[in-house]
Amino acid sequence: MHPLDPCTKQELTSAVSALREQGDLSEQAVFSCGYAAEPEKDLVLNFEPGSPYDRIIRLIGYDKAKGRSFDAHVSVTKGELASFTWVENGHSPVNMNDVIDVYTAIFADEAWLEGLKKRGIEDPSQVHVEPWVAGIPHPDFPQNARAYRTIAFLNSDPEGNYYAKPIEGLIGWVDVNTGQTIVEDHGVVPIPEDSGDYAAARVERLRDDLRPIEITQPDGPSVDVEGRIVRWQKWQLRVSVHPIEGLVLHDVRYNDDGRERPILYRAGLSDMVVPYGDASPMHYWKHAFDAGETALGHMANSLKLGCDCLGEIYYFDNVLLGTDGEPFEIENAVCMHEEDYGILWKHTNAFRPESDPEVRRSRRLVISMIHTVGNYEYGFFWYFYLDGTIQMEIKLTGIVGVSAVADNVGSDTAPLVAQSITSPIHQHLFCFRLDFNVDGSENSVYEVDVEATPDGPHPYGSGFRSVARLLSTEQEAQREIDPTRSRVWRIVNPDVKNKLGQPVGYKLLPQASPTSLCGPDSIPVKRGGFAQHNLWVTPYSADEMSAGAGAFTNLHTRDDVGLPSYTKANRSIENKDLVVWHTLGVTHVPRPEDWPIMPVEYAGFTLMPVGFFDKNPSVDVPPTKACKS
Ligand code: NI
Repeated sequence: MHPLDPCTKQELTSAVSALREQGDLSEQAVFSCGYAAEPEKDLVLNFEPGSPYDRIIRLIGYDKAKGRSFDAHVSVTKGELASFTWVENGHSPVNMNDVIDVYTAIFADEAWLEGLKKRGIEDPSQVHVEPWVAGIPHPDFPQNARAYRTIAFLNSDPEGNYYAKPIEGLIGWVDVNTGQTIVEDHGVVPIPEDSGDYAAARVERLRDDLRPIEITQPDGPSVDVEGRIVRWQKWQLRVSVHPIEGLVLHDVRYNDDGRERPILYRAGLSDMVVPYGDASPMHYWKHAFDAGETALGHMANSLKLGCDCLGEIYYFDNVLLGTDGEPFEIENAVCMHEEDYGILWKHTNAFRPESDPEVRRSRRLVISMIHTVGNYEYGFFWYFYLDGTIQMEIKLTGIVGVSAVADNVGSDTAPLVAQSITSPIHQHLFCFRLDFNVDGSENSVYEVDVEATPDGPHPYGSGFRSVARLLSTEQEAQREIDPTRSRVWRIVNPDVKNKLGQPVGYKLLPQASPTSLCGPDSIPVKRGGFAQHNLWVTPYSADEMSAGAGAFTNLHTRDDVGLPSYTKANRSIENKDLVVWHTLGVTHVPRPEDWPIMPVEYAGFTLMPVGFFDKNPSVDVPPTKACKS
C-alpha cells in the first residue's frame, strides 16, 4: 500500500485487537476514531511501490474505568503497540456511547423532568435532547469530567422540525464519566408556534415552473482514478479523508509540458471554531470546535446522485472506526465530478468582423464532502481549473440555532428571525493548513499590497504600485486581510525561475473574511488562538499538524496549543519547507431569510499561479465545437 492510502477495515480490526491485548485499556474503553497515521514526508516523497515501511494506525478513544482519553499508535506491520498515552488535558471526540450516556442520565434526572412539566411537557418521549460538547467542564464536576451540556426541543410532531420548538431556559449538564447531572433553569418561555416546516411534504405549495436541467457527458468525464490518485487534465493529486479534518488533498501536481511540477504537499482543514456573541444563558457558552470535538470525518453525509451532485459522478467510500472498535464504511463520502464553469477566456477582434471570436469554455473538477453537525451543515468543495487555479469553497447551510422569546423582540446579538424566535449572532472560523511545495519544498512567503503613489512619477498623480514584502519570521507572518489594498500572500520558490527570470509562485487570494471577534482573554481564544489571524506561516514540523488542540480539543483548557504555541519561538520561514495556515470564515448575523432553513452561505479562498507558468497555461484548450441554441 502507498503510505497515504487510507486504512482498511482489516487494518483497523487488527490494530484494535493489538491495542486491547497489549494496552492498558479496561473493558469499558470505547473508540472515537482510528486512521492510518501519515508517515514522515521524506518516506512519502521517496516511496517506491512495493518498498517496505512501518504502517502505523492511530487509535483515539476514552476509557470510563480510568476516566481518561487515550492516544495509541499501533504498528500493523509488526502487530504491536508502538506508543500509548493517557491524555492529561482534554478528551477524545464525541462518540455514540457518550450520546447514549447523556440520554440515560438526563431523562432520569428529576429536576430536568420537573423543568419539562413546568413548561407543560408531561411526556418526555416527546423531547429531543441535543448534547453539546460542554467546552469547559462545570466547576462542580471533577477536573477530568467528560462533560456535556444539553439543550432540548419539543419533538411532538414526528415529521416536524423540532429545531423550531426550543425548550427555552432548560439546560442539563452531564458528566458521562460519573453520571453526575446538574440542571439549570433560567425561566419558562412559551414554545414558539411557528412550525419551521421546510420538508417538501410540508410546504404548502411547491412552485411548478422549474423545467429540468440535465448534465450529460456522452463520452464520460475526463477524469482518471487509480486507487486514491486522481488525474484530471494536467492535474494529479491524491484524495483522503481524515476522521477529524475531513477531506484532505495530497501531493497536488501539474503536468507542465511533461514536467510533473509539485504545488502542494498537503491541503485540508485543520481546525474550526464557532463562537457565539450573545450573552443569553442558552448560548453564551457555545464555541463549538466542530472538527476536533465532534470528529468532522465521522459526520460525513453519504452523498446521493442527483441531489448533492449533478452529472457523471465518481464517489469515494470512507472507512471509519466505530465506538465499539468495529470498522464501518460511509458509502459515497466524497463526490467528484466535472462542472462547466462558463467562459475561460475570450476575445473578439473588432477590426476583423469576418473572423470568429476565440472563446474557450472553463470547466472545473469538483471534489467535495458534506458534513452534518447537529442542526448545521458544512460542505467543503475543492475546485481545480484548466488555468492552474485551485479554489476552496465552503458551503454553510442547515438550521440556525434559536431561542424562544415571549415579547417577540430581537436584539443586536440575537435578531428576530420568525415569530417568537430569535437566532444568536455567531462566527464560523475555519483554519486551513496548506503545506506548499511550489516546485520543491523550500519556499518563501511575500505579502503583496497595492499602494497609491500620489507623489510619484505619475503625471496625473494617480499612480499606484504593487509592493511585495518578505515575511521572514513566524511572528512577522501573523497577518490580516486588507481588501482595500488588494492584499494577497505569494508563496514562491526563490531558487526556481520562470522564463522571465521571476521566482515561480502561487498566490493565496483571500476573501473578505473576519478573524475572531472574541476578546483576547476569552475562553474561545484561549482554546483556539488560530482564529485570531487570517494568516500564519510556520516552518514544517511533523508534529505540528493541528492549528489548535487536534484530536484532544474536547474539554481541553490549555492555552499552549496549536499556532500561538508553535510560533512563540519566532522561527525563520525564509526559503524553508513551510506551512501556510489560513483562517477564514463568516460572521453570521441571522436574518428572517435564514429561517426555517438557511440558503447556502459561502466562504473560501483561491490559490492562483503567479509566474508559476511562463504564460496562460490554458491557451491550448481547444474550442468547443457543438453550440446548441
Ligand atoms: Ni451560521
